[in-house]
Amino acid sequence: MRGIILSGGSGTRLSPLTKITSKQLLPVYNKPMIYYPLNILVKAGIKEILIIVAPERAGDYLRLLGNGKDFGCKFTYEIQDKPSGLAEAFIIGENFIDNENVAMILGDNIFEDDFSEDLKSFKGGAKIFAKKVSDPERFGVVKFNEKMMAEKIVEKPKKYLSDYAVTGLYVYDSRVIEIAKNMKPSDRGELEITDVNNWYLEKNELEVAMVNGEWFDAGTFDSLLRAQNFAKEKMADKMLF
Ligand code: DAU
Repeated sequence: MRGIILSGGSGTRLSPLTKITSKQLLPVYNKPMIYYPLNILVKAGIKEILIIVAPERAGDYLRLLGNGKDFGCKFTYEIQDKPSGLAEAFIIGENFIDNENVAMILGDNIFEDDFSEDLKSFKGGAKIFAKKVSDPERFGVVKFNEKMMAEKIVEKPKKYLSDYAVTGLYVYDSRVIEIAKNMKPSDRGELEITDVNNWYLEKNELEVAMVNGEWFDAGTFDSLLRAQNFAKEKMADKMLF
């Protein structure tokens, strides 16, 4: 399985912290934010990792992470010119993914769980991970039927749909490349990961698992602060590096 860390975007919500560097390189307690998603992939045995970054930040990533040797990995870098959506990662990463399955994780998502078994046992189709939250309108939201089977997924629903947010870890087979290439941008001008997930859902090939531990999307000041405190108390012994 190949891994992608999507670490582009401009991080404007965290300005002025993000004026001189990337959001995903900001400290979360004693490590740069991106170390947390990187640990998730490496723990699952993924060694070939594509890191997608914004053009003006590429040098910072190279200086911090290099070619991956220090982490027992091989890192490849690609530039995303502008934040045109999460699903664009699979177009940018087409050659890198080749015919393999791929796990993509967002560079600002911090998970307490270990997903090794989920990633290692993945055979095909798609697998995503949901978490009950108090502010679902900020996320992609999944609605389950009474048998807890996913019924539909809506990106930032205006009307209440359910409490289950789709978190920033996604596993797909290599069909995801063609799916992304055939997509149209949404009203907010992005290639939406939610459309990819609905493609697999409609084919009955989407598995939605639950996140048991804590999960943070560290993209706002408050969530970043919560993530920092959690990292200090609970994450230190879970990190490979
Ligand atoms: O955090 C999980 C959520 O991530 C999901 O529940 C949503 O379904 C998904 O659309 C996404 O929601 P956001 O709209 O909040 O994503 P955001 O624009 O904050 O981007 C997430 C991360 O990905 C952020 O660290 C920046 C990076 N990014 C984003 C875009 C749109 C890129 O690297 N490139 C992009 O084109």
